[in-house]
Amino acid sequence: MSLLKKMAAVCMTAGVMFATGSAQAKSLVVYYSESGYTKNVANTIAKHLNGDTFELIPAEPYSGADLDYNNPSSRVSREHDNPNRVVKLRENRVSGFADYDTVFVAYPIWWGIAAWPVDDFVRNNDFDGKKVIPVATSFSSPLGQSGILLKDMAQSGDWQEGIRFSSGVDEKTVTEWLDSLNLK
Ligand SMILES: Cc1cc2nc3c(=O)[nH]c(=O)nc-3n(C[C@H](O)[C@H](O)[C@H](O)COP(=O)(O)O)c2cc1C
Repeated sequence: MSLLKKMAAVCMTAGVMFATGSAQAKSLVVYYSESGYTKNVANTIAKHLNGDTFELIPAEPYSGADLDYNNPSSRVSREHDNPNRVVKLRENRVSGFADYDTVFVAYPIWWGIAAWPVDDFVRNNDFDGKKVIPVATSFSSPLGQSGILLKDMAQSGDWQEGIRFSSGVDEKTVTEWLDSLNLK
């Protein structure tokens, strides 16, 4: 085969692969993480599905003292006690959000529910036509009502049951769960 023909064959193969890739469901992993556990899970999901990540960062970041849940007057304890809490994000919009078919919303569990900085994202985006999958990490608490409460806040999207992983979950556990979803 001439060099020119070989190059054409390679280009065609690449073209087919590209076309197949573009037909796959496009996944976004939106996550909030303070100590890195949820971030690890979010990165594993994105890597396995060839998706994108978007980190939610509070407009007013939490200090270590702010996160001290053993101190009843810490910021996070006061927010927990306030049912009307609003924690604004630095950015709650993702560019090209409309193009994603599947959105994972990943968060740590705080007092048995989703860490509330994710609320600003969930409340202010349109999930219509998207599969939405809650993913929690925690020391010991289960997923509980956390996903259902987020679904109620969102009021759009096809929210799935979701899953909770323990804080230091290994990559294999996460990828096996992903494979069981048959998203690829
Ligand atoms: C304010 C606060 C509240 C928490 N509440 C719980 C809880 O109710 N149950 C639990 O198992 N873990 C709880 N944790 C532990 C976190 O859920 C756990 O460490 C999580 O994996 C942290 O994720 P991150 O590293 O992405 O921030 C809490 C942590 C913080 C900072």
